Amino acid sequence: MNKDFLTLQDINQDEMWQIFELAAKLKKERNTSDFKPLAGKSIGLIFAKSSTRTRVSFEVGVHELGGNPLYLDQGKMQIGRGSETVGDTAKVLSRYLHGIVIRTYAHAEVEELAREANIPVINALTNEYHPCQLLADLFTIYEYSGKLDRSVKVGFYGDGRSNIANSMILAARLSGIDLVVCAPEEERPDEALMANAPNVRWESDPKKAAKDLQYIYTDVWVSMGFEEEKARRMALFQPYQVNRAIFDLAAPDCKFLHCLPAHRGEEVSADILDGKCSIVYDEAENRLHVQKALMAKLIGKN
Ligand code: CP
Repeated sequence: MNKDFLTLQDINQDEMWQIFELAAKLKKERNTSDFKPLAGKSIGLIFAKSSTRTRVSFEVGVHELGGNPLYLDQGKMQIGRGSETVGDTAKVLSRYLHGIVIRTYAHAEVEELAREANIPVINALTNEYHPCQLLADLFTIYEYSGKLDRSVKVGFYGDGRSNIANSMILAARLSGIDLVVCAPEEERPDEALMANAPNVRWESDPKKAAKDLQYIYTDVWVSMGFEEEKARRMALFQPYQVNRAIFDLAAPDCKFLHCLPAHRGEEVSADILDGKCSIVYDEAENRLHVQKALMAKLIGKN
């Protein structure tokens, strides 16, 4: 495996299956496992943005693998007040820690941190990508469908250029699932990300996109860091709300996915989010199991 996990392009399909095999085992044996690949290791968790799932699943995950998680509020670090470079931070933390998990704004900052650090760096969300989320989502789809190939039909509704949409496209490329990104022209997905991927397409019509979908995924319309665009985004994405009318056009047993937090009545209607088709809490739980497997492979091997 590559040293770092910054996007889903950092693993190949074999490595994805190795992670899922270990994640399934760790999930099954959570209460009995004595698997401690992070024993004696300290992992820094740098957060510049709010988090519930990511912070807790990484902290608990490091602990369960025998390691020591250190939560670091980026705003309280020297880098956070502009008094230290990313490079110096990376070099110094590499002398103390065995791995870094980071959630911040610009993806370029995480790339620089990874370049300058000689320990593994895991991207826990940037403005551009959220690979840990999508790895857990693929695992969740695999649990429900028993396979990941072109016969598995997934639709992402909303902002086609968001970190979730970008990562969903890379997830489809990695796994081979069929993906339609349903987004308005103004926020259609990045052509370069979709290039040479016959299993990924863009569709602007929410009704056309819904046909035969087995999974429908959406995310909030205003991500962290984009608050000043709220009015424009709320109007633009309104026709892309995931609701009963969309589900009625999808496959009969279509499941609903959302990375959470969700805004009922905005990107998804409450009856869908809280209904029988929703598997969002399985999805959230799988963050823990999949990230444990990822950390064991990436950090536990050394
Ligand atoms: N899905 C997700 O990343 O949740 P948090 O923002 O709560 O970490």
